[in-house]
Amino acid sequence: MGSCKEQEQGFNHAKCFEVLGPIIVGAGPSGLAAAACLSQQGVPSLILEKSDCIASLWQRKTYDRLKLHLPKQFCELPLLGFPDNFPKYPTKGQFISYMEAYASHFKIRPKFNQTVKKTEFDDTNGVWRLQTQDLEYRSRWLIVATGENAEPVIPEIPGYHKFNGTILHTSHYKSGSRFKNQRVLVIGCGNSGMEVSLDLCRHNAIPHMVVRNTVHVLPREMVGISTFGIAMALLKWLPLRLVDKFLLLVANFILGNTDQLGLKRPKTGPIELKNVTGKTPVLDVGALSQIKCGKIKVMKGVKEITKNGVKFMDGQEKEFESIILATGYKSNVPTWLKGCDFFTKDGMPKTPFPNSWKGENGLYTVGFTRRGLLGTASDAVKIAEDIADQLKTIKGKNKSCSNSHVIILRKS
Ligand SMILES: Cc1cc2nc3c(=O)[nH]c(=O)nc-3n(C[C@H](O)[C@H](O)[C@H](O)COP(=O)(O)OP(=O)(O)OC[C@H]3O[C@@H](n4cnc5c(N)ncnc54)[C@H](O)[C@@H]3O)c2cc1C
Ligand SMILES: NC(=O)c1ccc[n+]([C@@H]2O[C@H](COP(=O)([O-])OP(=O)(O)OC[C@H]3O[C@@H](n4cnc5c(N)ncnc54)[C@H](OP(=O)(O)O)[C@@H]3O)[C@@H](O)[C@H]2O)c1
Repeated sequence: MGSCKEQEQGFNHAKCFEVLGPIIVGAGPSGLAAAACLSQQGVPSLILEKSDCIASLWQRKTYDRLKLHLPKQFCELPLLGFPDNFPKYPTKGQFISYMEAYASHFKIRPKFNQTVKKTEFDDTNGVWRLQTQDLEYRSRWLIVATGENAEPVIPEIPGYHKFNGTILHTSHYKSGSRFKNQRVLVIGCGNSGMEVSLDLCRHNAIPHMVVRNTVHVLPREMVGISTFGIAMALLKWLPLRLVDKFLLLVANFILGNTDQLGLKRPKTGPIELKNVTGKTPVLDVGALSQIKCGKIKVMKGVKEITKNGVKFMDGQEKEFESIILATGYKSNVPTWLKGCDFFTKDGMPKTPFPNSWKGENGLYTVGFTRRGLLGTASDAVKIAEDIADQLKTIKGKNKSCSNSHVIILRKS
């Protein structure tokens, strides 16, 4: 979006861009949704993206067999839905093509290869100052859209560096084809761990999956209807704990007792657990039947990695050729947003959903609700309305000037 005005500022001897509208950090689904909603309100914005493409998590860091787990109506961004001919659960490729069509429809042109390294609010001038590797950008509004899954979590496991084989995080896993006939340990049993283990089975590898804790596994569908959809519908009428009880009753009926497979259920129900801790239930797309028939072996926590394998907490020791860390992701906000107490040390807003989208001094967040793309859509709409309202007020006060927010920036 052509909202940049270049000028020499002498700050760190770098060029400084004063941005007329909000600056959005991140061109994932959340950043794109925010830009689209702002554009619909007539507000220009600038997206800074560290990668060289939109939706880089989906394009660069996900495995080939990935499909949305939720039906498409729960994963749509605001203002433009999925094409009618897409299946109920779009593939990764279809989701990426939807993102590309979305960006093109709203004429969103992020500035790529711009890693925001440091951002601070400048009290004196009332602007956010964002430093990338080669430029400084300034705006009255900062929209954080760097995602809950910005960086892989790499656990510190004793012996990690002794291992002779390959260790990789799921963000670098594409397909099981390179692991054919290998004994592979998948550490972690979230949706990534389950699906990667399943993919390894399909490619004739011998996967073992570490389950160190309790986990809720739910069928993706119950009698042909998405489990998520059923939960959403029931929550409109019933208390959360009752909905959880219902989901577990049906899940046990469809899947059987998962405890016996080494997948013990937490005491707290799946939706309550998600709301309280952010821990996502696993939606089963086939891994469970592979566990039942012994093709995916469930292992206890890892005690230590050795030269050729792993020692487990229960005393077992096994050899592996590769280890895949399906240990999840974390926010990277604390690494680049400084002097701002809106976020926890883990880079999540301190204020929970539905009020996590707005901070002070023109700070906003989109996509930090632990509610996936549904949360993104809700944040983006609210942010755009809020900023558009502010601009109307500013313009009202500065009737003689058509570009009133430029004046505010020039106070510095
Ligand atoms: C394997 C996998 C499958 C998933 N499947 C689903 C699903 O089916 N449904 C669902 O709702 N959710 C799913 N999710 C959750 C997923 O995080 C969201 O769908 C979605 O990608 C979130 O969008 P986002 O824009 O908030 O974050 P991201 O997609 O992570 O985008 C953030 C962007 O910010 C950029 N960025 C980060 N730091 C900086 C910086 N310092 N400077 C500049 N740019 C920066 C990144 O490069 C990235 O492009 C999945 C996640 C994973 C890992
Ligand atoms: N198709 C899809 O829609 C799809 C597919 C994949 C992922 N996703 C989404 O992407 C997000 C990330 O999912 P994810 O599965 O990558 O991460 P995740 O849900 O955070 O799961 C991480 C897993 O790793 C385990 N773990 C972490 N550190 C460990 C250690 N040191 N030793 C053993 N186990 C360890 C965790 O166990 P503890 O519980 O004990 O911490 C947990 O089982 C989620 O929102 C998920 O729903 C969606």
